[in-house]
Amino acid sequence: MRIEIPNALIDALRHAQHIAVLTGAGVSAESGVPTFRDAQTGLWSKFNPQELATRKAFQRNPKMVWEWYAYRRELTARAEPNAGHYALVEMEKRVPQFTLITQNIDGLHERAGTKNMIELHGNIQRVKCLREDVRVESWVEDGEIPPRCPRCNSYLRPDVVWFGEMLPAFALDEAFRAARNCDLFFSIGTSGVVEPAASLPFVALRNGAVVVEINPDETPLSRGATFRLCGAAGVVLPMILGAPF
Ligand code: OAD
Repeated sequence: MRIEIPNALIDALRHAQHIAVLTGAGVSAESGVPTFRDAQTGLWSKFNPQELATRKAFQRNPKMVWEWYAYRRELTARAEPNAGHYALVEMEKRVPQFTLITQNIDGLHERAGTKNMIELHGNIQRVKCLREDVRVESWVEDGEIPPRCPRCNSYLRPDVVWFGEMLPAFALDEAFRAARNCDLFFSIGTSGVVEPAASLPFVALRNGAVVVEINPDETPLSRGATFRLCGAAGVVLPMILGAPF
């Protein structure tokens, strides 16, 4: 399929004072990190998330949940940022204000070089204490899985948001502030079905921003977006950055 970047979008980019970008698992698909809901390759098609990504699941079977995250941690550590991640680094350099809001826990935006970033769902490379909810940098590896908190001896868990948990309040406030205040909003590689992140593009629309969706598939945002670019982030984003703005 031929993708064209509309002139009106190039114009919006040229005049943008604040760009906000929401990314989801699709942005990392071309880095080899499976998405959550894509039928054949999505992780969720092989495992039931409710059995793995909840506090209850961890309390029921801490070893299995820890090992599942260890597998994903290794997968993301081996993955490299792709052309889409790097195009967003370039975008940040070209506008006065830029806020990247990601639902991804893989840390690839940061590794690519994005500076102003909000991780809504945490980061799989980090670990925190189950009881105290504080980040833990080091612990004793004595073979016990999961390992234990060196301070309180409770289990350690990944520093990610599980189903049924609150998002970090500061990150959420910042994300909604950016959605309200930006003049151009990109929603990239997200199915737009998980709240509260799914509301962000609609908040931007209501506040008068131009909203652009980049996704090969239709989502609940597609009909309302100002521009819809049907294609892979790693293809479409470099095309946008190649446009004269
Ligand atoms: P999903 O797996 O729900 O959606 C991925 C989206 O990316 C789909 O709409 C695909 O069509 C699209 N996609 C696939 N390949 C793409 C590509 N190369 N370029 C652009 N788009 C592509 O992932 P998320 O929307 O990120 O939350 O899921 C949101 C949240 O649901 C996750 O953060 C996770 C999950 O439950 C938690 O774990 C709290």
